[in-house]
Amino acid sequence: MRVLITGACGQLGKCLQDSFKESSHEVIAASRSELDITSSDSVESFVLAHEPDVIINAAAYTSVDKAEVESDLAFKVNADAVANLAAAVNKIGAFLIHVSTDYVFDGSLTRPYREGDSVNPMGVYGKSKLAGEREAEKANRYVIVRAAWIFSEYGSNFLKTMVRLGSERDSLSIVNDQIGAPTYAGDLAEALRALAESPPVSGTYHFSGGQRCSWYGFAQEIFQTCGVLKADFQFPVINPIPTSEFPTPAKRPAFSVLDGGLLEARVGIREGSWADALRDVCSKVLEADYAAKK
Ligand SMILES: NC(=O)c1ccc[n+]([C@@H]2O[C@H](COP(=O)([O-])OP(=O)(O)OC[C@H]3O[C@@H](n4cnc5c(N)ncnc54)[C@H](OP(=O)(O)O)[C@@H]3O)[C@@H](O)[C@H]2O)c1
Repeated sequence: MRVLITGACGQLGKCLQDSFKESSHEVIAASRSELDITSSDSVESFVLAHEPDVIINAAAYTSVDKAEVESDLAFKVNADAVANLAAAVNKIGAFLIHVSTDYVFDGSLTRPYREGDSVNPMGVYGKSKLAGEREAEKANRYVIVRAAWIFSEYGSNFLKTMVRLGSERDSLSIVNDQIGAPTYAGDLAEALRALAESPPVSGTYHFSGGQRCSWYGFAQEIFQTCGVLKADFQFPVINPIPTSEFPTPAKRPAFSVLDGGLLEARVGIREGSWADALRDVCSKVLEADYAAKK
């Protein structure tokens, strides 16, 4: 099987490359400089030249707050570019795997969100990702996988920000009233690889890291894990605060836990476990941090 990964240098893109290294599949990992998915001409000629069986779209505009002022760019990358990919897969009969977000929901439910629940994004990022879902659905063969609160040893994410701020500050205030389920990008990459190998019925599926928590709870677990891994790790004091005390340009859902039951029932892919991944990721991040300071 030949697989094209777009956005190959993002955190999911890198984890996908790691995951496919273990396989015998041929992988074309295209960074933004190698394939800008907003150019329909480039997408068409790249796809026709390489003829992948599967395209996994890990490229996206992911700055949730900046999207409020860069709406055109967010829609161009998260929606218009997905139309380019859908058109290209239809041309060669390939299969499109597209990744979306829990931020398509408004957080008004109190039980984990299922795929068929009403969407109502609160910000530009979520709106652009929802528009991208509609474009992905135009592919003849596709799956959309919604994930949430992605972290990894790569790129920028909450875990890496915590480790950095933890060593710079004595105390941190972290939001305690937004509830979600973090997703390790490595677990998501494994799930996407399994989908590439055995494409299910076209549709939308949820995948996240299991156990729900708040950002404050996630930060507590991150710092505790770092403390176990590194004897001289400096713990900041962390204070739980409500969202009202940490206003951000983009509104976020208060509750966006995803129910991964459908993916397990239809395809046998079980949700990940962020708690299990935490030790390994913190260890890699601390090692890289230590190496950078040497
Ligand atoms: N991060 C989260 O918490 C989260 C949560 C739920 C869902 N998701 C979704 O999960 C997916 C993966 O997210 P991630 O965290 O891995 O994102 P990421 O680390 O921000 O990576 C996105 C990648 O897309 C690339 N890109 C941006 N514009 C592009 C373009 N026009 N053409 C080609 N590549 C382009 C970026 O390139 P540059 O590095 O050059 O900018 C970057 O390498 C996305 O669909 C995202 O919406 C993310």
